[in-house]
Amino acid sequence: MTTTTLATPIFLSNDLLTGAEWSPAHTHDLLRLTADIKSHPARYAETLRGKFIALIFEKPSLRTRVTFEVGIQSMGGSVVFLDHTQARLGERESIADVARNLERWVQGIVARVYEQRVLDEMAASAAIPVINALSDKFHPCQALADFFTLEERVGNLRGFKLAYVGDGNNVCHSLMYLASRLGVHLRIATPPDYAPERDVIQDSKRVARETRAKIELCTDPREAVAGAEAVYTDSWTSMGFEAQQQVRNSVFAPYQVNAALMAQAAPGAYFMHCLPAHRECEVTSEVLDGPQSVVLDQSENRMYVQKAILQALFS
Ligand code: CP
Ligand code: NVA
Repeated sequence: MTTTTLATPIFLSNDLLTGAEWSPAHTHDLLRLTADIKSHPARYAETLRGKFIALIFEKPSLRTRVTFEVGIQSMGGSVVFLDHTQARLGERESIADVARNLERWVQGIVARVYEQRVLDEMAASAAIPVINALSDKFHPCQALADFFTLEERVGNLRGFKLAYVGDGNNVCHSLMYLASRLGVHLRIATPPDYAPERDVIQDSKRVARETRAKIELCTDPREAVAGAEAVYTDSWTSMGFEAQQQVRNSVFAPYQVNAALMAQAAPGAYFMHCLPAHRECEVTSEVLDGPQSVVLDQSENRMYVQKAILQALFS
């Protein structure tokens, strides 16, 4: 059996904090590496041997935790899980002090945090790589897995029409960064007060001009979905926003992805969701469990794309 890994000319920043660290070329390289890791896992079975990686989670997780733990161990590495769901980082000691201690023992940090600035501070304080496992603003591992899932089905995504319907949240922001880097035509429909943040729109549109991607914003879900080749939604109330749940349930009700909305998309359009899904809220069970849904492939691919990120940052 060969142990040769794909020679990838990947020049990544030391960290993956937002997804904007990577050029369009690096993003393509990473998806190519993901495909190699998925097809030939044995080639990468030892590449993290001797490496310890801390997983710090301030919020609950199923997919991200399991895919990082299994992925790291399948590459020969070891995981130290730090459950911070009961006490936020920075409460017992400063974030910089946590990071400066961790870098004496482990070779990398994967963190899920309430505030993006916590990741930025960790990365600034420690020389070891820091990977964003979801923050209030971004979820880059998710969007990379999502576009890998689409690429597996349709090949090159240049000009691919993706609609995002719902909250202009962390997942939406990461889809924007990655869509603009991969040349995707992304049309987003959110209620007027829940649009993506201005700096993310500006960066995505700037990159889109180079790659001929399109990033379009509107408020009408039917307009966003018309002719789309995939339709994506996420929860109306992200972790950390639970106090707004009642208001959000009523504001977002017209944005539910159901059979009627899917009928506006291209025939056979894929349905996508990062999960966890709230059935009969942002998506009906009919669509979530239907033949157009690729949500479990998105979940599965989280592991391969994260293995590629680790390979790129640590090898
Ligand atoms: N999609 C995702 O990140 O799922 P978890 O919250 O379960 O990790
Ligand atoms: N937007 C969701 C994604 C969960 C994976 C949240 O932040 O809760």
